[in-house]
Amino acid sequence: PPNISLANVKAHLTQLQSIATANGGNRAHGRPGYLASVNYAKGLLDAAGYTTTVQSFTYNGATGYNLIADWPGGDPNDVLMTGSHLDSVTAGPGINDNGSGSAGVLETALEVSRQALAPTKHLRFGWWGAEELGLRGSTAYVSSLTATERAKIKGYLNFDMIGSPNPGYFLYDGDNSDGVGSGPGPSGSAQIEATLAAYFTSIGVATRGTDFDGRSDYGPFIAQGIPAGGTFTGAEGVKTAAQATLWGGTSGQAFDACYHRACDTSANINDTALDRNADAIAYTVWTLGTAAVPT
Ligand code: PHE
Ligand code: ZN
Ligand code: ZN
Ligand code: ZN
Repeated sequence: PPNISLANVKAHLTQLQSIATANGGNRAHGRPGYLASVNYAKGLLDAAGYTTTVQSFTYNGATGYNLIADWPGGDPNDVLMTGSHLDSVTAGPGINDNGSGSAGVLETALEVSRQALAPTKHLRFGWWGAEELGLRGSTAYVSSLTATERAKIKGYLNFDMIGSPNPGYFLYDGDNSDGVGSGPGPSGSAQIEATLAAYFTSIGVATRGTDFDGRSDYGPFIAQGIPAGGTFTGAEGVKTAAQATLWGGTSGQAFDACYHRACDTSANINDTALDRNADAIAYTVWTLGTAAVPT
């Protein structure tokens, strides 16, 4: 699997920041900065050879958009989907939440093209609208699929907040290894978690589980029994002393003190966390996407 360029991921964040700045300071559902964000990603994906679709939906009297990008080839009955929400709250530009995941997924998709990857699975990428208003875009997408199309999606990888300034390294707890909380994800989620865990082990970074508590866009996928996984570096939660020992950073402070605030700007990113998580996205897409298809 490739090493994803941190500079390229950060260049996408610079563009998303500029889009927000030029559009009233945010990239929120129903605001012009959101559609400008979609068009930025779509232009790059189209030029890279993706087949892109903009899916519209209506929420709260405003039109929302999901951007879907399919990489031609792979088994059409064995789809690996990777997604992130592209909208921000109205309070700010949303660069960690969720420019970070959006940029990491975008750069991974562009690297697939640069390497002319010929995966065994069909790779599909999604950038969701209106997550901040209750997972509206991802819910609209999953609802729009026929049962047949839904059943072809064998895995969903979600990335929401992967560059938190006081980071933790959390993996969605597909196997319920801690035995508490919301329980395991759909069967197959444990394999996704194990793949992400193998990457972090390889770079010597400890990880911890975070429950599928319904706070991000994997929600509508797991509700349909689709295996899911992903990473998260923390939001408003406060880093404990034990977590600061494990990961560094500052105990007693939020993972992201600018969560849902105007200060979630380009300055609100931990480059090391962003770099590691972007590489984890690519590692997982390559490992799962190019695995031998069972016969
Ligand atoms: N989805 C939340 C948001 O966008 C953040 C979050 C992600 C919280 C993952 C918990 C787990 O505001
Ligand atoms: Zn988010
Ligand atoms: Zn948010
Ligand atoms: Zn686990």
